[in-house]
Amino acid sequence: MELGLENPFINIIFAYYNYHYCIMGRFEKVIVNQAGVDKRGSGYYSTPEFIADYITKELIALNPTGRKVLDPATGNEELLKSFFLAGKEIDSFDIIEHGEIKYSNFSQFDFIEFYKEKKNQQFFSNVIDLDYDYYIANPPYNCHEINYIRDNKKDLKLLFNKVGVNNMYSMFLSAMIDCAKNGALIGVIISDSFLTATMHSGLREQILSQCSIHQLILCPNDLFWDQKADVRTCILILQKGTQFQQDVLVSNRLKNKEKLAERLKSKNFNTVKIENIVLSKKKNANQFIIDVDPDVLKLFSLPRVGEVFKCITGISTGNDKKYLSTVKKEGYEVPFYKNPGSRKFKTEVDAYIINDFMDESLKVKDFMVRNKQFMLKEGITCSSMGLPFSACYLPENSTFGVNANIFTPKEDIFWMISYLNSSLVTYFVRGVLIRSNMVTSGYISQIPILKFNELEKKQLQQIAVNAINETTTIKDAIDKIDDIVFNNVGLCKPKIEYIVDFATNLNKRV
Ligand SMILES: C[S@@+](CC[C@H](N)C(=O)[O-])C[C@H]1O[C@@H](n2cnc3c(N)ncnc32)[C@H](O)[C@@H]1O
Repeated sequence: MELGLENPFINIIFAYYNYHYCIMGRFEKVIVNQAGVDKRGSGYYSTPEFIADYITKELIALNPTGRKVLDPATGNEELLKSFFLAGKEIDSFDIIEHGEIKYSNFSQFDFIEFYKEKKNQQFFSNVIDLDYDYYIANPPYNCHEINYIRDNKKDLKLLFNKVGVNNMYSMFLSAMIDCAKNGALIGVIISDSFLTATMHSGLREQILSQCSIHQLILCPNDLFWDQKADVRTCILILQKGTQFQQDVLVSNRLKNKEKLAERLKSKNFNTVKIENIVLSKKKNANQFIIDVDPDVLKLFSLPRVGEVFKCITGISTGNDKKYLSTVKKEGYEVPFYKNPGSRKFKTEVDAYIINDFMDESLKVKDFMVRNKQFMLKEGITCSSMGLPFSACYLPENSTFGVNANIFTPKEDIFWMISYLNSSLVTYFVRGVLIRSNMVTSGYISQIPILKFNELEKKQLQQIAVNAINETTTIKDAIDKIDDIVFNNVGLCKPKIEYIVDFATNLNKRV
């Protein structure tokens, strides 16, 4: 369907489209609901019925006598039927009236605005304490570049000063938690990027310090495929107040939505202590993790890469076509590394950057050279995109992009390259710290560093040097590194086999 700009109603839709440009997949087709509204433009993806039923029933089971419900992003009231049938009094918000409202007292209103007003009314205390017993939502999935966040950044930053303004969904969850009275239940189906992303550590901190976590269930990737959206989501059930914390029901990501439906029906979940789903209470390190062996988790109490060495990003040119050349030529002579991908130990130069890159960064706003003092220094460059995690030697007199780069004293470069290419580190990165394909320096900073003795370091160093000089195969090098690393940590054989299997079959395991 083509949309015409002369129709004022359609213009509103376009305004909303700009206002809530959505990250759940960027498709060109417009999806219009019965009310004529472009659903995708407002960050709209309907919650499948079996998920809606599950969350509502679980909330009611946790508090059968609650009365009032709030759904702050109600859409077509997909989440409200079971509450309605249970006789609850329901309020709802949405910026758009998507269809016929049957179950709730609906207000066409921006929930973030509503929250802001409530917050501004708190002259003497910071507590909002709305009278709802249950909050339920599938918050809009919008990315941080959208106009709304950019245009309102100053206000939003004040409002969400601890959790940041990274995303609509994270602001929604944070606002719901803040509005909730003690004991209120909060059930959401939500993007799972907040579980590990460094930029969401503030939200995790808010959850951990203000709520009890009852359930954390990773949803399969195909959950929204029939709505042309590819997104990783999870079901999260919280209760305001930490005093309600008991064991947490968790489920790792299943293969498909049929399997999830079976699991929700059978309730065959793992039950874990709260300490076993949080990596560490340290700021920026408080990732939620699911299904990680306690012996592996203990290793995260060791010093992390970012605490011991410099783990940083470098240059974003803002216009690679203009500033980078795939071949070395006059004016473009400085090697530029940005992503070794699956190459380990040694990588090819990705491009050549203009010789006067420093001067250009002073003149051109979008040409950014971060961590200038490390440019042209010898170090380690790590992969940024794709399934495998790898580390390669970064030669002196080169530059580097926005992937993670590690700078250590000279004597630590080569044993660290070996260690970073071990199966254990691959497991730390892809099995524990991050499950998506974008590995930023924030994550690499979180890798624990084992305590190696001088002999182990020497052996690891020699293996890296041999691999870089191609006097050994990569496979032999990794096998030898794994022997040293696993011998150092002392894990039992089945756990080692599990980690090696994970690291060698990433496409099936992540
Ligand atoms: C992912 S949909 C969820 C719809 C429905 N509740 C469900 O679970 O299927 C998100 C909804 O949030 C609404 N929305 C987007 N921004 C909003 C805002 N600032 N305040 C209130 N609702 C908003 C969208 O219009 C959309 O209906």
